[in-house]
Amino acid sequence: MNSPAPVLSQDALKTLVGEAALQYVVPGEIVGVGTGSTVNKFIDALATIKDQIKGAVSSSVASTERLQALGIKVFEASEVEELSVYIDGADEIDHQGHMVKGGGAALTREKIVAAQSRKFVCIADASKLVQTLGQFPLPVEVIPMATAHVMRRFAAMGGQAAVRQKNGQPLVTDNGQHIVDVTGLAITDPLTFETDVSQWPGVVTVGVFAHQKAHVCLLGTAEGVKTLTF
Ligand code: 5RP
Repeated sequence: MNSPAPVLSQDALKTLVGEAALQYVVPGEIVGVGTGSTVNKFIDALATIKDQIKGAVSSSVASTERLQALGIKVFEASEVEELSVYIDGADEIDHQGHMVKGGGAALTREKIVAAQSRKFVCIADASKLVQTLGQFPLPVEVIPMATAHVMRRFAAMGGQAAVRQKNGQPLVTDNGQHIVDVTGLAITDPLTFETDVSQWPGVVTVGVFAHQKAHVCLLGTAEGVKTLTF
């Protein structure tokens, strides 16, 4: 009789997908690297093949520090015209590859590096897969002067918005801006939603990634890594 598969922790699932993402890294090239606890697993795995790559373009100060500490050269995004692959996590991903991102406050740089990349490989544990985006609070990076205005606009759509705090103060992003987290939205048309909110004055980046959606998702499940393609 087969014994049941061991129940893997969320952390173990993150390690699985972080390691699985190595198959998308192109030898001799620069790889785009996202931000977050799942990406940290990928960075650790990337360090084992660091001699086979030229380096990385990073989406946050935190990822840059981790990459450099492991001896991986980090290039500025502006030094690189195009990347073959960008590996990043997500707070939510739907069955079309649209995502909500920004739980780690790095959404603006993540969207920039994703836009420079031919392929977006999302690495996530199974809890991130949703039918409709909007269950995780939607991060929006906002110029502080516009925060109250942006929050009122979300309230008018039926959402509840709050300024993200750190140590009792508004969190300041790597770009010197604030984050508004919005709950109570069902984002049924991610492309239109992203287009519309991106045009509001004072919005730097909305955390819906529909124009820069994932092409592949490596999903960590109890049965192992599942590959979803979009
Ligand atoms: C950071 C992000 C992350 O990719 C997202 O928050 C997922 O993080 P984690 O892998 O820690 O669950 O968008 O801005």
